[in-house]
Amino acid sequence: MRLGGALLTALALAVSSCSSAPPAAPSPSKDDGIRGPPSLSAEVRRQLSSLSPAQLPPPPADPTNRYADDPRAAALGKKLFFDTRFSGPLLDDANNGAPGTLGLKGEPNKVACVSCHIPDAGFLDTRSPREQISLGSSWTRRRAPSLLNVAEASFLMWDGRRDTAFSQPFTPIEDPIEFNSSRLYVAQQLARLYRGEFEAIFGPMPSIAAFPTLAASDAGCADLPLDAPHGTCTKPGSDDEGVTRIVVNMGKAIQAFTRKVSCGRSRFDRWMDGDTEALSAEEQAGAQLFVGKGACAACHTGPYLTDERFHNVGLAPQFTFFIGTFDDPGASVGLAAMLTDPLNATGRFSDGDDGRDKILPADLSTLLGAFKTPSLRCVNMRPSFTHTGQYRSLEDLVLFFDKGGHPAGYLGASENVARNLTTDERAALVSFLRALDGEGPAHDLVTPPELPADPGP
Ligand code: HEC
Ligand code: HEC
Repeated sequence: MRLGGALLTALALAVSSCSSAPPAAPSPSKDDGIRGPPSLSAEVRRQLSSLSPAQLPPPPADPTNRYADDPRAAALGKKLFFDTRFSGPLLDDANNGAPGTLGLKGEPNKVACVSCHIPDAGFLDTRSPREQISLGSSWTRRRAPSLLNVAEASFLMWDGRRDTAFSQPFTPIEDPIEFNSSRLYVAQQLARLYRGEFEAIFGPMPSIAAFPTLAASDAGCADLPLDAPHGTCTKPGSDDEGVTRIVVNMGKAIQAFTRKVSCGRSRFDRWMDGDTEALSAEEQAGAQLFVGKGACAACHTGPYLTDERFHNVGLAPQFTFFIGTFDDPGASVGLAAMLTDPLNATGRFSDGDDGRDKILPADLSTLLGAFKTPSLRCVNMRPSFTHTGQYRSLEDLVLFFDKGGHPAGYLGASENVARNLTTDERAALVSFLRALDGEGPAHDLVTPPELPADPGP
């Protein structure tokens, strides 16, 4: 059977956009931009070299955050990433103190970013029971993505709900299933625990003295069960300019930290550099299938193996144990919420707008059931795969794509098509995916920092 026309066109486009660099002047000593072992055809080498440039590009400048590359902001951001003292009480009964939970139901100050993005584990969640979705204050609706190379993305979350990294922490903070906190509680804790370090970077904190001090037990925005996804917090301070500004600056500091964490170069890149021993014969076959018969590079393009776009791959969600059935509309709803969010790249809390939202389709309903293409660098470190985390092995995930997705049970129209790979071809693709592991972030980025002591009330 042949691959679907749409996918072939997408693949052709992906290939042609890679080859759109100006042709190098003919010179025998100069690389023509195409790397890779000479045993491959020029066409395959061209496709593979777009996935593996000689050097991985550094994070692009982010005009939305003028502190993005400020080392003081990164040092503060690291502490904030590890500090559990911004979270409200755990809500779900599943918090029973068993291994993998963060404490007992009702206990506050147990959740931090680090709870679900574990630095030693590739900034993803290998802690939560059953390793599918995360248990914070309650069960999240989606799997925690790895934050390695997150600086490459202009759209964040599986559904594109955030286009600015500084606004992203508002989701875990205000969501009753994650921190179960509020921006007022977080701003008050920042003023109490971090004022000096914070003001040295961002200037004087706006006054929030008009608001009564929230107790940790009363930090949250909402109760369970959850109402609409991306609901609005009704806690005092939620529409206050000063409170919001303080939490925005927290987000800017955290972004300065997470911007630095990268998977790094892999054995695949060494092979493309000309080290013919770096990949086994099976892994080499997998690399060729990835850009060839597997048609994976239609979406997993560029040095980070993602087009940073949203696609419907025909995935029927499987959440039965955790939260029952859950129809996730994905990017059609997430992107629409982002576009009207005062915290987006065009809003007044952003330090600049590079027009990142301009690439989105005018009619977002075409993205019903579409999710962001994940980067595949360091993919082998993930305990489970896809936004639902329902695949436990790369073998099962590749089989899913080979079959062209599920026959039914998902929202929207799938772009996925059957590939009819042989058993050996599927195994080769899996081996190739495993060869994308990198050395990971530098040691100082993953070791826990010393946090400021609590000065008392
Ligand atoms: C309870 C678990 C949990 C906690 C705590 C948590 N996250 Fe996440 N994180 C997730 C999940 C789940 C997603 C995907 C959510 C979605 O797509 O709707 C996510 C998504 C993200 C993303 C988007 C990544 C991408 O590639 O699009 C970033 C960045 C991020 N989290 C950073 C943070 C930061 C910073 C904090 C602390 C302020 C934090 N997270 C706290 C579970 C968690
Ligand atoms: C039409 C675009 C498209 C094509 C073609 C495609 N992918 Fe993906 N891939 C995605 C999207 C989108 C997701 C996330 C889907 C979700 O969670 O709903 C994904 C998820 C994955 C994941 C899981 C990563 C994670 O963090 O959960 C792996 C591994 C993967 N793809 C590998 C492949 C391989 C191998 C091929 C070729 C056989 C392939 N993909 C073809 C778009 C694509």
